[in-house]
Amino acid sequence: MENLAKDIDEILITEEELKQKIKELGSQITKDYEGKKLMLVGVLKGAVMFMADLSRCIDLPLSLDFMAVSSYGSSTHSSGIVKIIKDLDISIEGKDVLIVEDIIDSGLTLSYLRKTLLGRKPKSLKICTILDKPERREADVKVDYVGFKIPDKFVVGYGLDFDEKYRNLPFIGVLKPELYS
Ligand code: XMP
Ligand code: MG
Repeated sequence: MENLAKDIDEILITEEELKQKIKELGSQITKDYEGKKLMLVGVLKGAVMFMADLSRCIDLPLSLDFMAVSSYGSSTHSSGIVKIIKDLDISIEGKDVLIVEDIIDSGLTLSYLRKTLLGRKPKSLKICTILDKPERREADVKVDYVGFKIPDKFVVGYGLDFDEKYRNLPFIGVLKPELYS
């Protein structure tokens, strides 16, 4: 990843740290959901890498599905008005649903998603995110599983993009400021 890594100012979370944390989250989720009807709901596209790795660290039968949402607003700040671009294929009624997210920033997207999914009568609904920026929170959403709390910096890699690039970086990093313009 030498070519892509040239655009990164600072690595916040290494590939090894991600792996280790995801193992821990997977073990915890395995314990918590034993005997339940676990369904993972990944939010496209940012959560794809996390979903792939996390699901393989959960030692239980489970189903998984994806949703795509877009929030109106600028690329760095969401408005809280969310449109469903791709809905789930599988019904969540009666299931123990765990939303899998890349990052919780203002919390507005998740707060909307949570309300929408609760309306479909899952048995339970919890949230798991690999990254959390608590300083930016506007909506009061309870997050059940958090990988890393990070400072208020725009990050890329491991599913997260800038202008649709850098999702394939295996670590989480901060872009060089000159690349934003
Ligand atoms: P909320 O509604 O919690 O939005 O404000 C979360 C969504 O905002 C995007 N987001 C980021 N994307 N680097 C990114 O690549 C970031 O640092 C970042 N912070 C927020 C992301 O799409 C997330 O799902
Ligand atoms: Mg996202």
